[in-house]
Amino acid sequence: MKRILITGATGNIGHEVIRFLYDNNTPNQIIAGVRNIDKAKIEFKNYAQLDYVQFDFEDSTTFDKSLDNIDCIFLLRPPHISDIDNYFYPLIKEVKAKKITQVVFLSVQGAEKSKIIPHNQIEKLITDYGLDFIFLRPSYFMQNLTTTLLNDIQVKRKIILPAGKAKFNWVDIENIGESTAKLLNDFDNYKNRVIELTGYENLDFYQVTDLINETINNKIKFDNANFLRFFWTKKKDGLNAGLIIVMMMLHLLPRFQSEPKISTFYEKLTGKKPTKLKEFIKRENKILTHPNIDSYPLKG
Ligand SMILES: NC(=O)c1ccc[n+]([C@@H]2O[C@H](COP(=O)([O-])OP(=O)(O)OC[C@H]3O[C@@H](n4cnc5c(N)ncnc54)[C@H](OP(=O)(O)O)[C@@H]3O)[C@@H](O)[C@H]2O)c1
Repeated sequence: MKRILITGATGNIGHEVIRFLYDNNTPNQIIAGVRNIDKAKIEFKNYAQLDYVQFDFEDSTTFDKSLDNIDCIFLLRPPHISDIDNYFYPLIKEVKAKKITQVVFLSVQGAEKSKIIPHNQIEKLITDYGLDFIFLRPSYFMQNLTTTLLNDIQVKRKIILPAGKAKFNWVDIENIGESTAKLLNDFDNYKNRVIELTGYENLDFYQVTDLINETINNKIKFDNANFLRFFWTKKKDGLNAGLIIVMMMLHLLPRFQSEPKISTFYEKLTGKKPTKLKEFIKRENKILTHPNIDSYPLKG
């Protein structure tokens, strides 16, 4: 039995990882590293064996205790943290000092392409410290439709993005959580590998809008805003400038890049096909249809 610390436990991926670990009867002790233990205990009330520890990427005084007696860590970068030197350098140093060699890091597809991508810098830190790792590089989450893009879909009946006809590879976070849980349990067989996790479909936002409209009555549109209009629309919606710029880059850059690569890793690992976007849309039909539902029922 090993002790596995899950960071970002209450987020999209972390929650799915914990769900799949317990659904598959993990033999390991799982510890959720969270900022608010009371809140996390409510979220994970169905998992009685789960342990909790105070962990804050932005407070290095929490590292010592949270990394004590940990054998393996699932690490992600919360979306708002980009200053790797300030937050990840001290953390990885402490991971090394505590002799934790098993690091599973949630990176992003294409992280190898640019040194300015924070995930690229974190991968480099982990390898520079000589830690054994698995780098997971997933493609574009289907759940972006039911989280980041949901308000525009529900209220404006639009997807507003400067994405043009760029193709994105669509992956279900359930497939990511399931794969990650297996890799955490079976680290040694996959160690020091970079693994891309994707679905089998590369689709642009016009195609995705058509797919959504096949299953709902109150149709939506894809609004291919230029980057200035996108910036001011999101600013008016109250988003902070940093986040808008990240969203802009994420959706604008693929217009000038080749189509995402498709990986068969999930099928090889689980023997199952990855979720199709049409299946996901059907699963989430209610939330995409109704303008008054404002909480995404992912947790539970
Ligand atoms: N969206 C995509 O299409 C996509 C594709 C590939 C890769 N990714 C990568 O996936 C990662 C995001 O994963 P996600 O969607 O699971 O994230 P998420 O849902 O936004 O969750 C973030 C998690 O981090 C925790 N957190 C935030 N700040 C923290 C802090 N200072 N200390 C400790 N915990 C903190 C949050 O906990 P609280 O409950 O305390 O807030 C939450 O559990 C990013 O690195 C992103 O680049 C995203």
